[in-house]
Amino acid sequence: MRTVIAGTGFYVPDRVVTNEELTRYMDTSDEWIVERSGIRERRWVDEGMSGADMARRASLMALEEAGLEPGAVEAIVLATLSPDHFFPGTGVFLQKELGLPGIPALDVRTQCTGFLYGMSVADAWIRTGQHKTVLLVGVEIHSTGLDLTTRGRDISVLFGDGAGAVVLTADDDGERGILSTHLHADGRYAEVLWAEFASSKHHPRITRELMDEGRHYPRMQGKEVFKHAIVRMPEAVQEALTANGLTVADLDLLIPHQANLRITQMVQRRLGLSEDQVVSNIDRYGNTTAATIPIALAESVRGGRLERGNLLCLVAFGSGFTWGSALVRW
Ligand code: ACO
Repeated sequence: MRTVIAGTGFYVPDRVVTNEELTRYMDTSDEWIVERSGIRERRWVDEGMSGADMARRASLMALEEAGLEPGAVEAIVLATLSPDHFFPGTGVFLQKELGLPGIPALDVRTQCTGFLYGMSVADAWIRTGQHKTVLLVGVEIHSTGLDLTTRGRDISVLFGDGAGAVVLTADDDGERGILSTHLHADGRYAEVLWAEFASSKHHPRITRELMDEGRHYPRMQGKEVFKHAIVRMPEAVQEALTANGLTVADLDLLIPHQANLRITQMVQRRLGLSEDQVVSNIDRYGNTTAATIPIALAESVRGGRLERGNLLCLVAFGSGFTWGSALVRW
């Protein structure tokens, strides 16, 4: 029994925010952002749009592609670092919107690798026969939590909002499906990319003074993240290939987490892949964290970049640090 990706979907907000627009809020330039990150624009939600809303839209698209009604979903796994509320998780709000009371809804909190952690859990549920159909979603609203002053410019120019979803189903065809998933984390680097406050370690969890200092915004040591990402991502791809007795020469398409175009290019070169074997959409969406891989996957399917029998690798690296890969026979 294998897990197959039966449907893919995505949703991004209508509002396009160009680099030029960001220059109105902070001291930055289109040139700096494009040269350092490859990002030209990103999407931001309008007031009132929730993560659960975006997740629902992406999910319905994935269900339609799979030819399934929402009622076929037996479990929800939702990855996000920007939940709609501190608790409960966004997964149950999505469940409510889809009208699926009673089924399990699990939130995954492993940032850029969240979608792959979620895929690993869903794959295990399906292969052990616990569930036949699992809805796996990655969704992120960064725009409401960014420091849009010059103080936050190193991070705020990188992130965007969006959602991506896949419907995973059991299949005994024996050939296609998820071949394996490989997950890692190293908490020694937890504070290299993090949002320190609001924090339940402190009473109160946030104060006016802390907010004035911007301590509730994400902070990142960019060079440190970069250095680790370009080692860990190729390593995770190799690990997945080796585990399945395959090599880079067998790979048809790589969908890396979209953190930075320069990271993607380094990963491509280190693996010896050609540019057209590596998916990149960061120029249009920026870094949408848990949503980047499913958005890029849904776009790849719609762009005709995947054919039955292709070998696809998904790979991510991000805050935690967390990283991992999944190998899929399409
Ligand atoms: N516009 C203009 N100037 C800027 C901006 C900006 N938006 N941001 C920073 N600068 C300035 C800095 O202040 C600094 O100025 P100084 O030399 O006068 O001090 C200069 O540009 C260089 O800053 P660095 O931080 O050294 O720039 P670097 O070359 O490291 O590039 C970047 C920064 C793009 C963030 C890079 O480190 C990077 O890509 N890191 C990886 C980040 C990443 O991918 N994070 C997300 C992955 S994990 C996840 O998805 C959750």
